[in-house]
Amino acid sequence: MDDKFNTAAGWVLFAGIIALGSAIVSGIFFQADKPVSPEQPGYFIDAPEGGGEVDAGPSMEEVLNKMSVSEGEKVFAKCTACHTVDQGGANGIGPNLYGIMGKGLAQGAPGFAYSSALADKGGNWDWDNMSAWLKSPRAFANGTKMSFAGLSKIEDRAAVMLYMNANGSNLPVPEFVAAAADAEVVAEETEAEGDVAAEAEAEQDAAAELNEGGA
Ligand code: HEC
Repeated sequence: MDDKFNTAAGWVLFAGIIALGSAIVSGIFFQADKPVSPEQPGYFIDAPEGGGEVDAGPSMEEVLNKMSVSEGEKVFAKCTACHTVDQGGANGIGPNLYGIMGKGLAQGAPGFAYSSALADKGGNWDWDNMSAWLKSPRAFANGTKMSFAGLSKIEDRAAVMLYMNANGSNLPVPEFVAAAADAEVVAEETEAEGDVAAEAEAEQDAAAELNEGGA
C-alpha cells in the first residue's frame, strides 16, 4: 500500500519538475522573458477613407424620381397625429404643413409656438434640409419639440416630401440622370470619332492607289 503511494507521489513530483523545467527552457527559447513592444501600440484597423461610406445607396434625386405622391400620402399617416396638411388646416401638436416645401424653417404656420431650436436655425425647407429633418428631427435641430424618431428609409422621406410638395408647394423635383446612361452616350461618341478616323484613312489609301496608278 505504502509503496504504491510513494510511487504515485514520485510520478506527480517528477511531472511537476518536467513541466516547470520545460516552461523555463521554452521561455528562454522563444525569448518570452524579453518583452517586445510593437512599433505602434494598439491594433491596426483597416478602415476605408472617408468615414466608411462604401455604399452610399441611391441618391435622393434618384429616389425622388422613383416615388409617387400617393405613396407619400401613406407615409404621412405617421404624421397625422400631430399635423394637418390641407389649406387652412388647424395646428395640432405640430404646425399645419400646407405649402411647407420651399418655405423658411419654422415659418409654415404663423402663430404656432415653434421651439427656438428650429426657429433659430435659418434656411429653407429645400429637399436636402427636409430630408435631413425627417431622417432625424433631433439630429437636425437639437432641442426640437417634434418628438418623432424619424424616417430612416430614404424612400419614405422622398415619398412624404413629394406628398407635402403636392399640397400647396410646387418645388421642381431635381432631375436625375442615371450614370449608366451617361456612360452609354460617351461610348457612342468615341465610337463615332473612331468611324471618322477610319474613313479618313481609307480615303488616304485610295488617293495613294490613284497616284501609283498614274505613275
Ligand atoms: C408627435 C407629434 C409629431 C409627429 C408624429 C410629427 N411631427 Fe412634425 N412637428 C411636430 C412639432 C411639435 C413641430 C414643431 C417643432 C419645433 O418647433 O421644434 C413639428 C414640425 C414639423 C415641420 C416644420 C414645420 C415648419 O413650419 O417649419 C415639418 C416639416 C414637420 N414637422 C413634418 C413632419 C412629418 C412629415 C411627419 C411625419 C413623417 C411629422 N412631422 C411627424 C410634431 C410632430
